Amino acid sequence: MEYRGYDSAGVAIVSEDTINCVRAKGKVALLKEKCLTETLTGAVGIGHTRWATHGEPSEKNAHPHKDCTGDIFVAHNGIIENFQKLKDQLVKKGHRFVSETDTEVVAHLIEEYAKKEKDFAKTVRLALKDFHGAFGIVVLSKKNPGTLVAARFGSPLILGIGKEENVVASDATAILPITNSVIYLNDGDMVTLSGGSYEISNFKNGGEKLHRTTTTIEWTNGAAELGGFPHFMLKEIMEQPQALRDTMRGRLVPSEGTVKFGGLEAFENRIRSLDHITLVGMGTARFTCLVGEYALEELAGIPAKVELGSEFAYRSSAVNEKSALIAVSQSGETADTLNAIREAKRRGALTLGIVNVIGSSIAREVDAGIYNHVGPEVAVASTKASTSQALLQIMFALYLGRMRGRSKSDGQVLIKEMQKLPAHVERILKSADKIKALAKKYKKCENFFSLGRKYNVASAFEGALKLKECSYIHVEGINATELKHGPISLIDKNLPTIVVAPKDSVYEKNKSSIQEIKARKGPVIAITTEGNKELEKVADAVLYIPKTLEMLTPILAFIPMQLLAYYLAVERGTDVDKPRNLAKSVTVE
Ligand code: F6R
Repeated sequence: MEYRGYDSAGVAIVSEDTINCVRAKGKVALLKEKCLTETLTGAVGIGHTRWATHGEPSEKNAHPHKDCTGDIFVAHNGIIENFQKLKDQLVKKGHRFVSETDTEVVAHLIEEYAKKEKDFAKTVRLALKDFHGAFGIVVLSKKNPGTLVAARFGSPLILGIGKEENVVASDATAILPITNSVIYLNDGDMVTLSGGSYEISNFKNGGEKLHRTTTTIEWTNGAAELGGFPHFMLKEIMEQPQALRDTMRGRLVPSEGTVKFGGLEAFENRIRSLDHITLVGMGTARFTCLVGEYALEELAGIPAKVELGSEFAYRSSAVNEKSALIAVSQSGETADTLNAIREAKRRGALTLGIVNVIGSSIAREVDAGIYNHVGPEVAVASTKASTSQALLQIMFALYLGRMRGRSKSDGQVLIKEMQKLPAHVERILKSADKIKALAKKYKKCENFFSLGRKYNVASAFEGALKLKECSYIHVEGINATELKHGPISLIDKNLPTIVVAPKDSVYEKNKSSIQEIKARKGPVIAITTEGNKELEKVADAVLYIPKTLEMLTPILAFIPMQLLAYYLAVERGTDVDKPRNLAKSVTVE
């Protein structure tokens, strides 16, 4: 689970008549060192990497947490919203809490129920019914040394069925080294693992037994390994030509100038008659929606707007059965985006997903969806998933556009250009050394601006996010036209600006922005179209992307930004794949 970002970690292992627990603040490597000095043997255990929500990152707050007696150990992903109330009640009953976490209440509540109910699984079930919030939970009991109980509500949990061992985890990549045969548990599911067997039941419904189908994960274990690259981020940047091919595979229909999506077929009539689309996502995923927004309007003539997943429920916007909500999410577990889906359903809208992780919560909650098929993205900073997300939104816009009157020949022109994207990206990747040299030159700068217009507002914002999260440099993404409405007062020789200025319909306007910056002695790194030499005369550095249709330029412009972010991070010695304070899946609101 390391790749998802964490600040402390711990394990607890049952060994005959005792449970040994080791925890450490910081990296798993530290935990590993500590484990070497302990006797940790046994066939049943739990482990956790924590990303602090309640209480600072510390050994005391690291999971697993235990009850007063040390009989019960739990690890938990998510948030127990009513933990304070439960904690107050338990403290009154004499329970002693040692951490500041919401999770510890789980162990004590199970302990409380165990005073009356002797069956381990039943005590867990009774406790689970009292929690509000989101959780994926695993529980060990000293009195039941061969058993592990796990449950999910709102946070992901997957059961892996191996040859000689079974495993539960909140992420498929953690299971792949053991097995690719999995069961995606549903909200309300509880699984009891013991003696090589498992039993799934519903913890909300009196423990009713459930049958869930087994699925085979297609991703190979190797896909989540470095394969000779120094970092996953670089590996995933370099994988983009293939990722884009995989995104398009089997979906382009050049003869008809359109695109087909197997997952949407059953909803085709409803999609054709939509009168409005809202695109939601968070972070990078939302920035890719800025590409989708323009593309939907241009290709399908449909009003589209982008919203933060987190804000959707708080707006009284006119969303109804004639609307669709498209949720964009790599992990498929982002709580803010999931909330938007639930709200859109409440208002009668069609919910569609663009998701990378198969079987994830978003993939299962939307009415229909499209998978990215780019394989696991391990680095916290999204790269290959983001270019695929932007491309899929353009493909969807074409699919809808063709149903609503766009001509076949228009579609064919766009498809032809889409097919060239992987080769274009390969060309950009060859300029990695040039970008590395730029990173060396600018590594001491603490502030940057990142500008773009129209389709490349997305590139400016996404580039800014990538640089800041990886290199810890403050970068502000700005719509280029806004520069003169305020931010320009900050421009001087110490504030470099990246300007995404391909030869498109707003090129001349972007050129004026570059002139305005240069007139105030601001350094400029321009990203423009191959063959356009004129920016070399004004900008301090020029990076090139191959010529393509205006709509597709962000997919190419993202790449030099990703490389710049990567090399700046390496130059500045940050933790590239797991930047501080970040988590790969943000399963809390
Ligand atoms: C930035 C990044 C995040 C995610 C965001 C949404 O590089 O990765 O901003 O894009 O947290 O995550 P998903 O796509 O999993 O919903």
